[in-house]
Amino acid sequence: VCAPLIDGFCRSIRYLRVSVTDRCDFRCTYCMAERVQFLPRKELLSLEELDRLCSAFVGMGVSKLRITGGEPLVRRDIMDFFRAMSRHLHGGALRELTLTTNGSQLSRHAEALASCGVRRVNVSLDTLDPGRFAALTRRGQLAPVLDGIAAARAAGLRVKINTVALKGFTEDELVPLVDWCAAEGHDLTFIELMPMGEEGAEKRIAQYLPLSELRARLERRFTLQPLAETTGGPARYVRLAETGQKIGFITPLSHNFCESCNRVRLTCTGELYTCLGQEGSTDLRPVLRGAPGDAALEQAIRAAIARKPRGHDFDYSRGVPRGVVSRGMNHTGG
Ligand code: GTP
Ligand code: 5AD
Ligand code: SF4
Repeated sequence: VCAPLIDGFCRSIRYLRVSVTDRCDFRCTYCMAERVQFLPRKELLSLEELDRLCSAFVGMGVSKLRITGGEPLVRRDIMDFFRAMSRHLHGGALRELTLTTNGSQLSRHAEALASCGVRRVNVSLDTLDPGRFAALTRRGQLAPVLDGIAAARAAGLRVKINTVALKGFTEDELVPLVDWCAAEGHDLTFIELMPMGEEGAEKRIAQYLPLSELRARLERRFTLQPLAETTGGPARYVRLAETGQKIGFITPLSHNFCESCNRVRLTCTGELYTCLGQEGSTDLRPVLRGAPGDAALEQAIRAAIARKPRGHDFDYSRGVPRGVVSRGMNHTGG
């Protein structure tokens, strides 16, 4: 491994999130427009190009690689990519290869993922009510997702459920979700709704639930013991003394965590976003295609990371969304 990636605020970048497609079989209301225009497939980087990029990052000290989308499992050749990346786990510098998925195709892929060295998956699931699930995802169904989660567990994968807390919509289900995860043996992380996406942040603010409110609700039933441990992601964890469960909170709005940020994001067209909550990006594709060796690529990556912003400017506190990002979450995979 050559010199590690350090940004202008002395943060060490060890975590790369790679969106392998902007496509998704769902249309979650907070993520993308109902009539979204996806990129033409020819715009996407090939697996060989993604491999070259990711391998360059691993060579510069990235130890955690998360595959995202859109929905990563809708990309046809995706398992070849997992197989290729798994070589960095064996004797390479990579410590964790994982993915974030909506779960709809997980049944088909769970065993192959496990055989590629994936040990845990994060599954996005905001509600256990089939009607609400259909309304929120616009074209998703709950049952295949639950089957996918079961298949992941059967394949020996740990499952972490990611739940965006939605005021006035799934609020009444959040504590029951804790009970469901306890019964099923899944970890659970709650996420605050961020003002992202074309359809306007106005709707986001109406559904925003500060997780401090949820914490207070949980404290009425459970003893919350703060945990120092981290997965290398943005969540802060507590243990519920009564059940032993680990619950995470991702609180970009109510409790900013940018100071300890260790991650950057690569899109399926080769753009490098050094902050989820800012518009700026660096196009690595011309560098990737322009030079045969990796020296120019490494230089471009280091230069981009040196300019990584201090953090996002998301803010709802004055009653209007500020720091809004117009790009949908499907572009960078959260
Ligand atoms: P673990 O490895 O399990 O800790 O996962 P993770 O939290 O790193 O990844 P996951 O894909 O589960 O991320 C959950 C969500 O957290 C993302 O989809 C984003 O919504 C949010 N998130 C992750 N990183 C950042 C970040 O740097 N800034 C902000 N604002 N939100 C983030
Ligand atoms: N705010 C917070 N989380 C979001 N996600 C998608 N859009 C938003 C948003 N506006 C989450 C999904 C999934 C992850 C990839 O990002 O629920 O868990
Ligand atoms: Fe698809 Fe995930 Fe966006 Fe929902 S949040 S539309 S599952 S990419």
